[in-house]
Amino acid sequence: MPSVNPFPSRVDATSPAFTANLSAWSSLTETLRARLGGALAGGGAALVERHRQRGKIPVRDRIDLLLDTGSPFLELSPLAAYGLYSGDVAAAGIVTGIGLVENVPCMIIANDATVKGGSFFAETVRKHLRSQEIAEEHRLPCLYLVDCGGAFLPEQDRVFPDRDHFGGTFYNQCRMSAAGIPQISVVFGGATAGGAYIPALSDEVVMVRGTGRIHLGGPPIVKAAINEVVDGETLGGADMHTTVSGVSDHAAADERAAIAKLREIVSAFGDLRRITPPPFAPAPPRHDPAELAGIVPTDLKQPYDVREVIARLVDDSAFHEFKPDYGATLVCVFARIHGHPVAILANNGVLFSESALKGAHFIELADQRHIPLVFLQNITGFMVGTEAERGGIAKHSAKLVYAVSNARVPKYTILIGGSYGAGNYGMCGRGFRPRFLFSWPNARIATMSPEIAAGVVTDLRRQSISRGKADEADIAAIDARTRAQFEEQSDPYYATARLWDDGIIEPAQTRDVLGLCLALAAGEERDSNPRPVYRM
Ligand code: COA
Repeated sequence: MPSVNPFPSRVDATSPAFTANLSAWSSLTETLRARLGGALAGGGAALVERHRQRGKIPVRDRIDLLLDTGSPFLELSPLAAYGLYSGDVAAAGIVTGIGLVENVPCMIIANDATVKGGSFFAETVRKHLRSQEIAEEHRLPCLYLVDCGGAFLPEQDRVFPDRDHFGGTFYNQCRMSAAGIPQISVVFGGATAGGAYIPALSDEVVMVRGTGRIHLGGPPIVKAAINEVVDGETLGGADMHTTVSGVSDHAAADERAAIAKLREIVSAFGDLRRITPPPFAPAPPRHDPAELAGIVPTDLKQPYDVREVIARLVDDSAFHEFKPDYGATLVCVFARIHGHPVAILANNGVLFSESALKGAHFIELADQRHIPLVFLQNITGFMVGTEAERGGIAKHSAKLVYAVSNARVPKYTILIGGSYGAGNYGMCGRGFRPRFLFSWPNARIATMSPEIAAGVVTDLRRQSISRGKADEADIAAIDARTRAQFEEQSDPYYATARLWDDGIIEPAQTRDVLGLCLALAAGEERDSNPRPVYRM
């Protein structure tokens, strides 16, 4: 921002604290990279080899072949299902993300057949639904790279019957197609039972000869049901479906030809929205984003100035701060990221009534000015105690939550530290529909910290009428159990495995990730109905 001076950083990169933070962060980053490496390995070397020997290309290589040269790929939730199912379901067996195909930003939804035949676990379904939700919100064409065994049958009760289960993915496909958001499938392998509907409900379908199969019931089911003996190719192969049934529109000789056909289909979309250039020339931050790892302590109890973080995310490290001398525990700034205007709210301590009021006011201004909101969450919660309650913290914090809920502009949330209690709500947690939510590997998310939870639960046990008097051994056991539960469940990998976020990213990647997200929304139509701003 030309009229705004860059932030005068006070960080001393030679201080012992900076060095200690760097070393703590290097271990967090190594862990993240190692776990991502595990997810990239899919079903493991032997199954990937079997896959190749069948003439099939590994899922991420298919995506590379599909994307434009030099296109970024914003992969979503690569650590879905991490630590679940004995570690056997890497990335939940599906790769989803956004990249450019023929210069059109597309959502790619690709099964990994090396992971349990690409069948659907609960997290696979959640990941599929989440990518469709993002696609619908941004009107991104969906490209399905199908290689899938349908529902993972031992888990069918967690995958099949409910609203947000497998059926929901087909409902989304139909609704998006009707809304003019293209739904295109390439069938590389199995598309059986439920899986058959992914291509069957697509606007256009390509099948690979020899390996692509679409059938509601495969040969074993046909034999069991009607005693007919038939081979897979005759029952549901590419030639039959392209020349006889008409379920498929194009048969391709091999996977590369199928991917080329998919690119051809996208090139014929017509006037679909391409990426809109940013309204301002992007400028790199003056302060190096790599320094974030020296600035942010991994111990959430240690305070630091969050402006130092903002200065390493925004263009030219420059921002205009709103009400710097009021409600100081919430820092609110107007800035730019990769040339896109943003209004950033960042925690700098516990939220008081004044901070909440300031946040609500700032959100209204951003909303009126059509500036997307970015929330940097590091929050233990709103202030508690007699003074805070008498000052109306419940109603003032509610104003922040209300403003967050009703803002019309795109919202983005990054968990850069703690995300506890109602602080999660006021700072646009998942319930408040941010367009994307990413976490740093130091993040913690829970109703409260393990120490406070242990205090609350042991107090409840002491006062319990229904369970009689507790002795100190009971209390100690409950204390230990509660701490262990909250430690485990507030871990960022626990969260990302269950898709409470869209992925864990390194601090130094945050600016570029936000830049991609902002670019996706940049050309959207604005709701310009008048909205007053109340000075809170
Ligand atoms: N439910 C449970 N397990 C499944 C499965 C499903 N729908 N689809 C695949 N698997 C498992 C296999 O049992 C195997 O498990 P293992 O490694 O523990 O032995 C693993 O996934 C790999 O399957 P495999 O058959 O070796 O892979 P493939 O690449 O040769 O074939 C399919 C892939 C999808 C064509 C084949 O697995 C298949 O036909 N699956 C069943 C499809 C079906 O009838 N689904 C109905 C769901 S409603």
